[in-house]
Amino acid sequence: MAQSPGCVATEAGRYNGGVKSIVILISGRGSNMQAIVEAGLPIAAVIASRADAAGLAWAKSHDIATEVIEQRDFAVREHFDAALARAIDRQAPDLVALAGFMRILTPEFVRRYGGRLLNIHPSLLPAFPGLHTHRRALEEGVKVHGCSVHFVTPDLDHGPIVIQAAVPVRAGDTEASLAARVLRQEHRIYPLALRWFLADRLVIDHGVVRVSGDDTRQSLFPEE
Ligand code: GRF
Repeated sequence: MAQSPGCVATEAGRYNGGVKSIVILISGRGSNMQAIVEAGLPIAAVIASRADAAGLAWAKSHDIATEVIEQRDFAVREHFDAALARAIDRQAPDLVALAGFMRILTPEFVRRYGGRLLNIHPSLLPAFPGLHTHRRALEEGVKVHGCSVHFVTPDLDHGPIVIQAAVPVRAGDTEASLAARVLRQEHRIYPLALRWFLADRLVIDHGVVRVSGDDTRQSLFPEE
């Protein structure tokens, strides 16, 4: 496993000199991870649930510490989550960002990182939790689709929403064209949400997230 420059390994975890940091969890392509890195956010490490996750190679080529907790090595979900938690805690991050992490996490894991675990989901939650969101949006005939960044709770794809971006659904859209339009917005809103979190600007009031300070738009309606 590579080490980030300036980090010191201690018994309790890695001390990073007080700079806030993010651990990103991926399972595949890693384009959201890439957007987060390219936004200049402080990354402690990228952890993948599969050794063949394409995003790992990109992270390594950018001198980011990487680790694999291979999901196939664990028959029991709780054991995988415990190994994942140990890997995360070695980095002592302030924030854990799920970025295409294709695992359902145990309630215990979610509680452990409660309030500092964010996810990006390719729909306007609470519509279309789960998989195949673009296909389902087309099948339902919705005219507006999009993506959401939310705090993770034990309920799948459910939790206080930080920011959403909407895109039009066009006649003639395919699953691929709609996914691509949404993905461009994912790459805008996820770094923004993480930056707000690291700056302590997110406040959750009765399950509703507000942003303090300037630049507080939590809904984007990009012109296409
Ligand atoms: C993204 O659409 C994300 O919203 C979803 O899984 C996909 C991951 O893509 N959770 P990438 O690995 O970030 O490219």
